[in-house]
Amino acid sequence: MKIVLAYSGGLDTTVAIRWLKETYSAEVVSVSVDVGQRDDFKKIEERAYVAGAVRHYLVDAKREFAEKFAFRDVMMNGLYEEVYPLSTALARPLIAQKVIEVAKKEGTNYVAHGSTSKGNDQVRFDLTLMSLMEDAKIIAPARIWKMTREDEIKYAKEKGIPIKTESSKYSIDENLWGRSIEGDVISDPAVEVPEDAFEWTVPRKNDKLKLEIEFERGIPVKVNGERMDTVQLISRLNEEIGARGFGRVEHLENRVVGFKSREVYEAPAALTLVYAHRDLEKTVLTPEEFRFKRMIDSLWSDLVYRGLWLEPLREVLDHAGDDLNRWVNGEVKVEVEGKAMRILGRSSPYSPYSEKISSYNRGWYPSDEMARGFIEIWGMHSILARKARYG
Ligand code: ARG
Ligand code: SIN
Repeated sequence: MKIVLAYSGGLDTTVAIRWLKETYSAEVVSVSVDVGQRDDFKKIEERAYVAGAVRHYLVDAKREFAEKFAFRDVMMNGLYEEVYPLSTALARPLIAQKVIEVAKKEGTNYVAHGSTSKGNDQVRFDLTLMSLMEDAKIIAPARIWKMTREDEIKYAKEKGIPIKTESSKYSIDENLWGRSIEGDVISDPAVEVPEDAFEWTVPRKNDKLKLEIEFERGIPVKVNGERMDTVQLISRLNEEIGARGFGRVEHLENRVVGFKSREVYEAPAALTLVYAHRDLEKTVLTPEEFRFKRMIDSLWSDLVYRGLWLEPLREVLDHAGDDLNRWVNGEVKVEVEGKAMRILGRSSPYSPYSEKISSYNRGWYPSDEMARGFIEIWGMHSILARKARYG
């Protein structure tokens, strides 16, 4: 038996390599997917072999993650429950996809991941694996072994497996689009999140940062006039905006599994790009398109959060997103000052905005007569209904 495991290099999945090998007398093939997390992939590979992997794969999926997932999040203004830019949720289906590719190459249908039974991640992994491999046999060791964190550390020590020494007391998941922080004291939603939970959004510079972000068809392409590679654009915004302290999210999140969980995120680039895009989109769309887009944005965010990346409706929404973003070209000026981000202005060649029509200083259009007629007919439904009900 051969099992292909999604391997992050953390405690759970490192212990999982040995546990899978011994429990199933299996050959374990580990797969690490680089989605922009700041990890030492050489060390991760070494750790995989010491833990007992027969083979290790490192898949560089940064560009694919940036272009097909993160930028899609921008186009769909993806924010779960209005705040969370879906960083972890977006990476899971891509990681699962890469695991399936390796499993096919290795000629096995046994696939494994390190998620627990309490989380959303298991839903995202399992559903993607099931969708892409009909006969997938999924093993989630952390749902089976009933070990606590201390038990896992003890297990690793007994078996002589090195674990990540710089291991945080929080449960962290990181990629190009954001950093998710859970656990430890954060689990009490009444408690203020301690500063030591944060790594990306630590103020190191106290000057004002002004950025001009240019979009083409809803996708960010230039920052301050400089055309940039996709991965580089996101990393640079994370670095520069994070250094001023902007990009933190904290909320009590409604998980897919039936309970609430206190969640903290750092996502400077994601939040800035989504806010800037949303602003530009509003500048361009008609009010009808705008209303419709807000509805599908929130539908899209819910699908992605709840592990339904491969649900056919997501593609339908993406097509609508493509259509509506066709004219979303232009620039948004933003300013980051400490923990706050402000939009300063925007411009688009496709905006129906007309200063001539909207300005109070230019002419008297519409005329008094036009305005009265319009208001009377526009509000007639309400006036007639009130009369019918209250006399
Ligand atoms: N609650 C977030 C989500 O569902 C974050 C999950 C973080 N995952 C982790 N393995 N620490 O997307
Ligand atoms: C996990 O339990 O595997 C991580 C947390 C989550 O998925 O929300």
